[in-house]
Amino acid sequence: MDKFKILLFVLIVATCGAALAITDGLLPNGNFEVGPKPSQLKGSVITAQNAIPNWTISGFVEYIKSGQKQGDMLLVVPEGAYAVRLGNEASIRQKVKLVKGMFYSLTFSAARTCAQEEKLNVTVTPTTEKSDWGVFPIQTMYGSEGWDSYACGFRADYPEVEITIHNTGVEEDPACGPLIDSVALKTLYPPRRTRANMLKNGNFEEGPYVLPNTSWGVLLPPHIEDAHSPLPGWIVESLKAVKYIDSEHFFIPEGKRAIELVAGKESAIAQQVITQIGKVYVLSFTVGDANNSCEGSMAVEAFAGRDTVKVEYLSKGKGGFVRSKLRFKAVSTRTRIMFLSTFYSMKSDNSGSLCGPVIDDVKLLSVRYP
Ligand SMILES: *[C@@H]1O[C@H](CO)[C@@H](O)[C@H](O)[C@H]1NC(C)=O
Ligand SMILES: *[C@@H]1O[C@H](CO)[C@@H](O)[C@H](O)[C@H]1NC(C)=O
Ligand SMILES: *[C@@H]1O[C@H](CO)[C@@H](O)[C@H](O)[C@H]1NC(C)=O
Ligand SMILES: *[C@@H]1O[C@H](CO)[C@@H](O)[C@H](O)[C@H]1NC(C)=O
Repeated sequence: MDKFKILLFVLIVATCGAALAITDGLLPNGNFEVGPKPSQLKGSVITAQNAIPNWTISGFVEYIKSGQKQGDMLLVVPEGAYAVRLGNEASIRQKVKLVKGMFYSLTFSAARTCAQEEKLNVTVTPTTEKSDWGVFPIQTMYGSEGWDSYACGFRADYPEVEITIHNTGVEEDPACGPLIDSVALKTLYPPRRTRANMLKNGNFEEGPYVLPNTSWGVLLPPHIEDAHSPLPGWIVESLKAVKYIDSEHFFIPEGKRAIELVAGKESAIAQQVITQIGKVYVLSFTVGDANNSCEGSMAVEAFAGRDTVKVEYLSKGKGGFVRSKLRFKAVSTRTRIMFLSTFYSMKSDNSGSLCGPVIDDVKLLSVRYP
């Protein structure tokens, strides 16, 4: 712990004032395309802390070129030609200038290489809260391509923060660790309830940055430690992640973004809403598939407090949706709206990757004359 603090101090002195305010998208050199000088590399291992422009590294970090081989495994990079690989207890960090008090989401891509259970600890410092970090387990593959993208949310408590991605893994082989690429930030605007919808962000249009050159969506991990969701208004309330998908790469029922429930009953999203006891409400939503070869019988269970409806959907994996409704009488001043997928689904492309039904266009309205 003391070691960590000392390192941080040195870093602040070294890079203070270097960062400029961000716009949505990749961080400066966020895809690691600008690499170390040949003199700062020993094979693929980076030998100097500031060898990658705009980043500071610590520990065993490798600079990986797309197509590089590891044993008989070909390492492919999702964006551009380079990525970094974090060995045991290694980290990369960058300082960014943000607007104090605003909300942001961080998106990055990661791929597992040799270790079975790789975990990344993402931290934003300093913060006024007790902790603002999240651990991203990357042992389960969701994407067919070996890479997955992840997002987390945070509030900038200071005008300049440092973002750290740290491999917490302790493997026998110190080089064993995940590949990291495409680190991006996006400003989140907290959505409001409107007269047309008592739910916030019911169509999921507000959410994390989706890397334009990636076709596998963004995983939103369950937020046990993280108070700030990268999906404003919603909580990922389950053991496993849900996937944020975009209309550039998937079939989306409404607008440009939707949620794919990729881990059966283990992945759910929820939102708490203020209701009047005795009043009747209608929850409407769509259930469909993302045109991603996710075929078969699907079912989404929607909950509004104690009331529930199960919507069945037979997917051909080619995109489509059905509309559904749940009418309920509120029994509490707060009603929890929740969606989960009843079954587990796998893509029919032999990739073994998890997939599931898509939900979108969620609306809640009170019924004046029930
Ligand atoms: C990123 O690094 C480059 C090269 O060192 C430098 O010119 C640029 O100012 C840096 N950008 C930021 C935002 O610090
Ligand atoms: C993640 O990093 C933070 C900050 O260094 C630390 O307090 C926390 O214990 C770490 N969590 C894990 C699980 O390593
Ligand atoms: C995405 O890919 C295109 C074509 O390969 C490339 O021109 C573009 O720079 C890439 N975008 C990013 C953000 O890397
Ligand atoms: C599904 O994807 C295929 C190929 O990518 C495309 O041709 C087709 O139009 C898409 N279908 C829908 C409903 O978006």
